[in-house]
Amino acid sequence: MTEFVWGAAASAFQIEGATQEDGRGESIWDRFAATGHVANGDTGDPACDHYHRWREDLDLMRSLGLQGYRFSLAWPRIQPDGRGLANAKGLDFYRRLVEGMLERGIRPLATLYHWDLPQALEDGGGWAARETAYRFAEYAELCFDVLGDVVEDWITHNEPWVTSFLGYGTGVKAPGIRDWSAALAASHHALLSHGLVASAFRDAGRAGRIGITLDLTVANAATGSEHDLAAARRLDGHHNRWFLDPLVTGEYPEDMLAHYESRLGSFDAVHDGDLETIRRGGLDFLGVNFYRPNLVRAASEDGVLGLEEVAQAAEVTAMGWPVVPAALTELLLRVRRDYGDLPILITENGAAYDDVLDGGSVVEDEPRVAYLHDHIAAVVRAREQGVDVRGYYVWSLLDNFEWEWGYEKRFGIVFVDFPTQRRVFKRSALWYRDWIARQTNGSVS
Ligand code: FCB
Repeated sequence: MTEFVWGAAASAFQIEGATQEDGRGESIWDRFAATGHVANGDTGDPACDHYHRWREDLDLMRSLGLQGYRFSLAWPRIQPDGRGLANAKGLDFYRRLVEGMLERGIRPLATLYHWDLPQALEDGGGWAARETAYRFAEYAELCFDVLGDVVEDWITHNEPWVTSFLGYGTGVKAPGIRDWSAALAASHHALLSHGLVASAFRDAGRAGRIGITLDLTVANAATGSEHDLAAARRLDGHHNRWFLDPLVTGEYPEDMLAHYESRLGSFDAVHDGDLETIRRGGLDFLGVNFYRPNLVRAASEDGVLGLEEVAQAAEVTAMGWPVVPAALTELLLRVRRDYGDLPILITENGAAYDDVLDGGSVVEDEPRVAYLHDHIAAVVRAREQGVDVRGYYVWSLLDNFEWEWGYEKRFGIVFVDFPTQRRVFKRSALWYRDWIARQTNGSVS
């Protein structure tokens, strides 16, 4: 991983479709969608029908000159019930996909878990249950055994903050549970499972690198008041330090332990040795997903965190997320200052806009071109100041199933006309292609 990689990212559930094919089991997102929690009644079918169109999609990547592709493996394709023997057809699919990348000169970056937990494991408590961490470790071994010779770079979890706090705390994402104690336990079990998997990867002497992807934020206070500053510090603790500290130092942040215990009672998910397992698993690289900073003020009504978000004086995307590229430079410098010289991959960055297919040969998306241009410039600035960033993966190659928003939110640099499955380049794809071509020898200019 010495050269800089320019790539794109996607995840299994968001693009594959074919949710009932070749022995795939049910995931929590199938269930969540089937029970009416997704906009417009959308489900994981057909998504981008990538399960059948993957060759065409890899060809698209090659035509854009992408050097890397971050994809995820669907656990329920590989272990339909989340345990036991592997479903060979599931692993064969990913083997063919990775070989297809290599044939086209595209470097694979594989995410083991991008939110599609087998429903059978959720029925046993999901990430709130310690057992799931051990099942994840078993699943990871199956993947390493079959793909270890063709995949060098592995990510255990995508955004464990979302898995735990949005899945089990606020319940806006699958499995839709609203229980903050369960969410806290889930966060610990996700981290523990990272530690188990990464330690086993190293202990077995497997070739390659393993890391985790966190969705980090910059938490700003709306005013200089002591209460608002404390609120911003809590958001930072909740969103960033709660994950980074145990991974890097082997300890949960004291202030957050005290805060959660005061609101939720004792935090007893941590067993002796767990924190050592998490620290020992460690990180060959840190994946950072960045979309937006947060501006907050103190609010007593919010039972657990005691804060609320305030609108920022910035333009927003179709998600309502503020566009503040400088925050990405600030974030990267902060990670280096507080956590040391970790190799970093920007594993996701991008924006949704209301793109329209109007019959032309290219979909015009100037705001996305500007978003990508300015965020890439922000990454370059961090590199110039010594942050060891080694890759950038735009979210996303294709418009896809955007979780609870269904097909309503378009993040792709390639437009997907879902009824016909036609792919049409957006201006941003052509801009990104030209940007990559201008970078000589893979280095950032
Ligand atoms: C991230 C997710 C990714 C996508 C983007 C917009 O939180 O990892 O799957 O939904 O947001």
